[in-house]
Amino acid sequence: MSLKGKVAVVTGGGSGIGRAISVQLAKDGAAVSVWDLNSVSAEQTVEMIVNSGGRAIACAGDASAKIEIARSAAMTRQSLGAISILVNNAGISSFTPFMDISEEMIDRIMAINIKGPMLCCQEIIPDMLNAGWGRIINISSSSAQTGAPMMCHYSASKGGVIAFTKSLGLELAAKGITVNNIPPGFIDTPMLRQSPVDIEKQIQVSPMKRAGTPEDIASACAFLASEQAGYITGLTLGVNGGRVMP
Ligand SMILES: NC(=O)c1ccc[n+]([C@@H]2O[C@H](COP(=O)([O-])OP(=O)(O)OC[C@H]3O[C@@H](n4cnc5c(N)ncnc54)[C@H](O)[C@@H]3O)[C@@H](O)[C@H]2O)c1
Repeated sequence: MSLKGKVAVVTGGGSGIGRAISVQLAKDGAAVSVWDLNSVSAEQTVEMIVNSGGRAIACAGDASAKIEIARSAAMTRQSLGAISILVNNAGISSFTPFMDISEEMIDRIMAINIKGPMLCCQEIIPDMLNAGWGRIINISSSSAQTGAPMMCHYSASKGGVIAFTKSLGLELAAKGITVNNIPPGFIDTPMLRQSPVDIEKQIQVSPMKRAGTPEDIASACAFLASEQAGYITGLTLGVNGGRVMP
């Protein structure tokens, strides 16, 4: 599927799922702006893309802070052009019993996981409206579909992402802009490796007897970003190896 001529922003593109999405969109022909808090890892993703013949830039910054979002968007427009694809992937997780979750933890997780995607959309949608074409893909989580103990704040923030996707999808449906979300489930990334999840045990109980790969998410994301997915909006496209069948 060709994304030639498109400019994509991937937040959290310096690691795991965001890196695989950045690489896949570039492989399909998009110029990719890799946004990440971690400038070193964002540059590494850019290097991977450029070494394979693609076009990419890195923008270091906090994808939940309005001023930094505006700065990264301006840099992207200047280097690559108007933005046509936005992947809101940056996120943080945390495992804490509900009664021990502090107000600061709630604020931080909500800021990065749900406020950030909303602010990025507000910054970038004007480019899409001008073009009469756009693709927004939000990375939510299967924990919002099933519930997840010790993750009340995280799963609530990701549930917000799913509801936001549907509402924004309806608002933009007549404008040539689609808004969809992918709730990953059990994907082998630094986030999963740093969590208390018993990976081997989860593999044994998973239908496909394996963890997902970041590339599994990237393929679905590239499809939702394509021309061919133009009649799909508001969708929750689970990529979880059959772990969740809503
Ligand atoms: N790995 C899984 O099994 C899984 C499951 C469900 C949902 N997810 C979601 O997928 C997304 C990617 O997760 P991952 O597993 O690749 O995680 P990861 O920790 O490997 O990568 C996340 C990246 O986001 C960046 N980031 C964090 N906060 C940021 C901010 N405020 N601004 C800019 N960049 C920021 C980090 O620096 C990092 O590079 C997240 O939204 C996560 O919640 C992952």
